[in-house]
Amino acid sequence: MASLTSWSSKFLLMTLTTFAIIAKPSVADPVFRSSPWASANATFYGGETASGTMGGACGYGDLFSNGYGKNTVALSTTLFKKGYACGTCYQVQCANSPSCHSGKPSTTVTATNFCPPSGWCKPPRALFDLSKPAFMKIAQWKAGIVPIKYRRVPCNRTGGVRFLFEGNKYWLSVFVMNIGGGGDVSNMWVKGSKTEWIEMKHNWGASYQVRAQLGGQSLSFKLTSDSTKETIIARDAAPENWKLGSTYKTRVNFH
Ligand SMILES: *[C@@H]1O[C@H](CO)[C@@H](O)[C@H](O)[C@H]1NC(C)=O
Ligand SMILES: *[C@@H]1O[C@H](CO)[C@@H](O)[C@H](O)[C@H]1NC(C)=O
Repeated sequence: MASLTSWSSKFLLMTLTTFAIIAKPSVADPVFRSSPWASANATFYGGETASGTMGGACGYGDLFSNGYGKNTVALSTTLFKKGYACGTCYQVQCANSPSCHSGKPSTTVTATNFCPPSGWCKPPRALFDLSKPAFMKIAQWKAGIVPIKYRRVPCNRTGGVRFLFEGNKYWLSVFVMNIGGGGDVSNMWVKGSKTEWIEMKHNWGASYQVRAQLGGQSLSFKLTSDSTKETIIARDAAPENWKLGSTYKTRVNFH
């Protein structure tokens, strides 16, 4: 009898442990999930080739060579969040306008630019200044402006995050690109092969900077996602002979 009791209590313990293991991931889930739908308006800028959308306040430079393509958006102040929204992805659907294409199709865009605070982009307006090709997917471009529904969606990037280096001998400024999952970054650290982890400071757009002399050292980066708080480490992302103006590709990305 005693052995049966101990057997059954062991079994119960095992069952509970199994449940605890299964239940654990829901406590700290680092996978980015789509947000609920919200309302805004959409306009467009640039031409049909989207060449007018190159550059942009996030600092991604050439959007084609850096993987963002034509489907991009410049966000108004309210949505841009001082650049923390750079790299975030949105599903945008035309809503209740005779200018919407039939079937109210949606398109997915990445935030790469800022729409200055005047006109339709004046705070607190929520405005998506889409690339013309993205706008043309949801509505007749002659409408100029249409009401939309939008929601954050996961960014599906190919490969790992990329770092574009800028700055000078004393400052290293890093633009983080090709971010998957939530697409955003809230904190970033750099570690030279001869230093400890050094916290970087958020600059405008998608750039982080540090005042340190890191020349001649291989550089590792640690990043935390603003949306999910997941932290990833890109070890030796740049070799000892790294150069300003170069882009370094890694194998790690957010989920
Ligand atoms: C969209 O623009 C219209 C004016 O055309 C305005 O009345 C409405 O409040 C705007 N919607 C949002 C969500 O900003
Ligand atoms: C990424 O994939 C998910 C799931 O297939 C989809 O819902 C989402 O719209 C995609 N995001 C982009 C930016 O294409």
